[in-house]
Amino acid sequence: MNLLDLAPVIPVVVVEDAATAVPMARALVAGGLPVIEVTLRTPAALAAIRAIAERVPDAVVGAGTVRVSADVSAAVAAGARFLVSPGATAALVEAMAASGVPYLPGAATASEVLALYERGVREMKFFPAEAAGGVPVLKALAGPYPDVRFCPTGGIKPETAPNYLSLPNVGCVGGTWLTPSDALVQGDYARIEKLAGLARELR
Ligand code: 3PG
Repeated sequence: MNLLDLAPVIPVVVVEDAATAVPMARALVAGGLPVIEVTLRTPAALAAIRAIAERVPDAVVGAGTVRVSADVSAAVAAGARFLVSPGATAALVEAMAASGVPYLPGAATASEVLALYERGVREMKFFPAEAAGGVPVLKALAGPYPDVRFCPTGGIKPETAPNYLSLPNVGCVGGTWLTPSDALVQGDYARIEKLAGLARELR
């Protein structure tokens, strides 16, 4: 499985109520976005990952906001099929590498990319994408690191996503716009499916 090539957009979701996880995941898959990053930012996150892993077989569910080694084991035990972190430390990268699932550690500068490169990582999250300089920075990083590919995330919108997706060193982008919190609260899964359908056409 090459995580960056499965879909142009990885929905980054914050699940407040685990009961919304399965219908939300079904809506994203139906719209054409099978890769789903559930952030470990809420008490419901692990239950959401477990529910999606068990009940939405066409989804590729992973854990985001992985910050410490304990997050890695908890996420994989819940059924996460990939891991995403906002940044990287040696200990965290070691734990993610040992997990047996694909992982995208975060980097935003040439030195952070280099620290991961040194460890053999060639696919990374570029975070926080817009605040860290966006497209021009990714273009500049392609010079010294032509063999590194990124999933830029952070501040990316449907209007700006195509600019990223046209770069040769970008495999896909991440964003929270697919699952607005009001749509989740209202159970408006049709809206989520529609947003996913629009996003799948962005590349
Ligand atoms: C992340 O952790 O990747 C960010 O929270 C993404 O959020 P945004 O798409 O709303 O910037």
